[in-house]
Amino acid sequence: MKKILVTPSILSADLSCLQKEIDSVMTADWIQVDVMDGHFVPNLTFGAPLLKGIKTKLPLDIHLMVENPAERIEEFLQIGAKNITFHAEAVRDTKARKDLIATIHTGGATAGIAINPETSVEDILDVIDEVDLVLVMSVHPGFSGQKFLHEVLEKVKLLRAKHPDLMIQMDGGVDLQTAPLCVKAGANNLVAASAIFGAADRAKAIDSLRNA
Ligand code: DX5
Repeated sequence: MKKILVTPSILSADLSCLQKEIDSVMTADWIQVDVMDGHFVPNLTFGAPLLKGIKTKLPLDIHLMVENPAERIEEFLQIGAKNITFHAEAVRDTKARKDLIATIHTGGATAGIAINPETSVEDILDVIDEVDLVLVMSVHPGFSGQKFLHEVLEKVKLLRAKHPDLMIQMDGGVDLQTAPLCVKAGANNLVAASAIFGAADRAKAIDSLRNA
């Protein structure tokens, strides 16, 4: 059985005490930063400067929900990102996708590609053997606290059947009810914002998701 990684997303954290919030999820496996540009998604969030003073041993996972990810890679490589994921919908051209993946790898991070709920698995077959992770969005990206879209589970099953060793991340509406469905379909990296930062006992929430 595959180890399940739990990745809290700081989108629902209290940013007035971000260091304390990040310390409260130290039993997690990764920590995710949702970078939104107000264009690719109708919300605007963080850039690398917010994270400069933050100390954590958790690997930093960057989810770029931006129109031009190539412009944003360097700032996150410089703060030591472990993984950088960009959206398939933002980079349509195969060569541009490959160049981006190569830049991320050269900078010492792993590379992920994300697909929105309406994007099919076929769309990313051109780079499936080059990425380290596929992020299957289970909500329309932009905001935390949305309802999980069950229909995306089929894509996870499809990916897992063909790629037994691929890291498959799911993000959006992941909680104690939906996490077992994600894991059963083949996901092995669960991103959760409200289910973790909305819980009084975060270590317990993380543990429950990991063992879902
Ligand atoms: C979606 C973001 C998610 C989101 C998940 O726009 O990429 O990380 O914060 O939030 P929850 O877990 O509350 O659905």
